[in-house]
Amino acid sequence: MKTYLVTGGAGFIGSNFIHYLFKKYGDDIRVINVDKLTYAGNLENLKDIEDKSNYQFVKADICDSETIQTLFENNDINRVVHFAAESHVDRSIKNPDVFVKTNVLGTLTMLNAAKAAWEKEDGTYPEDHKFLHVSTDEVYGSLEEEGGYFYETTPYDPHSPYSASKASSDFLVKAYMDTYRFPANITNCSNNYGPYQFPEKLIPLMINNALNGKNLPVYGDGKNVRDWLYVEDHCKGIDMVMEKGRLFETYNIGGHNEKQNIEIIHIILDQLRNKLEDSDPRKAAVSEDLITYVTDRKGHDRRYAIAPDKIKAEVGWYPETMFEEGIRKTIDWYFEHEDWMKRVTSGDYQKYYEEMYNR
Ligand code: NAD
Ligand code: DAU
Repeated sequence: MKTYLVTGGAGFIGSNFIHYLFKKYGDDIRVINVDKLTYAGNLENLKDIEDKSNYQFVKADICDSETIQTLFENNDINRVVHFAAESHVDRSIKNPDVFVKTNVLGTLTMLNAAKAAWEKEDGTYPEDHKFLHVSTDEVYGSLEEEGGYFYETTPYDPHSPYSASKASSDFLVKAYMDTYRFPANITNCSNNYGPYQFPEKLIPLMINNALNGKNLPVYGDGKNVRDWLYVEDHCKGIDMVMEKGRLFETYNIGGHNEKQNIEIIHIILDQLRNKLEDSDPRKAAVSEDLITYVTDRKGHDRRYAIAPDKIKAEVGWYPETMFEEGIRKTIDWYFEHEDWMKRVTSGDYQKYYEEMYNR
């Protein structure tokens, strides 16, 4: 039986990954989801699986070494998929400390607990045990507007407190692999989009604002480029690296789908207009007039673009969802989950939004 310890499973990618696992493996696996339930963690994302006998939720901080160690002692965990992190660049610019705590010290706690549970007396590890550290392409820094890609060999050059904390966590994982031959992989993925993404990130924020007739805040000139991947394709990549990736290797995940931010916003507006009935009063408000250029993000990286050659060649991964289909599915999902959006945008998120955009 494969027993997964998924950290940050109540967040955007983590909850999609847990759904992916149950869809693919059904009752042949056990999943323990450890999440602190910060503003970004939402158990509603997992409502449909919460009663499964092979699923367990544990509310805990990954920095709490005692609780994490106990989890390893009481469960025969052989796969760790480590998502838990503070993930939003703008928040890291305002408040870097929690990023270092969760992303760096939390990763160290996870590594120590897994190592203590798995390492044999002779310093080797049992077969079929692996720690997969989920990381980001932002560790590589920023590319020129024209040409160039991030490869696994690209030197790290993080610019934001978020990417610096993720780079530090990657280096810790690399150090554990090199020093202790700790069985791990690192994946560095590009920007994800899809269901359950918290509306502080570009795509859900723009969908939500447009539907509510609110301004669409574009940072700088709107020409920064991100390489968008549908979240299910990322989940598939993580699962494939877990099963087929060579130990101690890093794999970049991305689907060659570069778009300027302003292009994304026009696509969203077009799709929303197509989707809304003529009789819907929101339709008239969904317009380019909402686009508002605002002060640029500090240290804003210009362009990200992943070269996925290694993951394609070694594990046979490829993206299945083209952007046109993925964005349509995403917009459909947000339409069908208006209550979800209302609930996550009440309370703390409102406070954050006022602070970020009403300056
Ligand atoms: P998210 O912010 O939506 O979710 C993070 C989850 O981690 C939340 O459920 C939160 O409650 C939990 N968490 C935060 N601090 C914790 C702590 N101290 N202890 C336990 N749980 C804690 O993030 P996401 O977008 O789903 O990203 C998940 C991972 O994937 C992150 O490591 C991120 O760096 C990486 N990543 C994200 C993207 C992307 O586009 N979103 C792309 C590449 C890599
Ligand atoms: O590249 C992977 C990374 O993608 C992940 O590691 C991060 O966790 C994830 O948050 C994401 O980071 P970005 O900073 O690229 O994503 P975000 O959605 O915050 O912004 C995408 C682009 O849109 C970026 O160029 C900034 C711009 N933007 C964003 C917001 C929220 C705007 O112009 N206006 C906005 O209001």
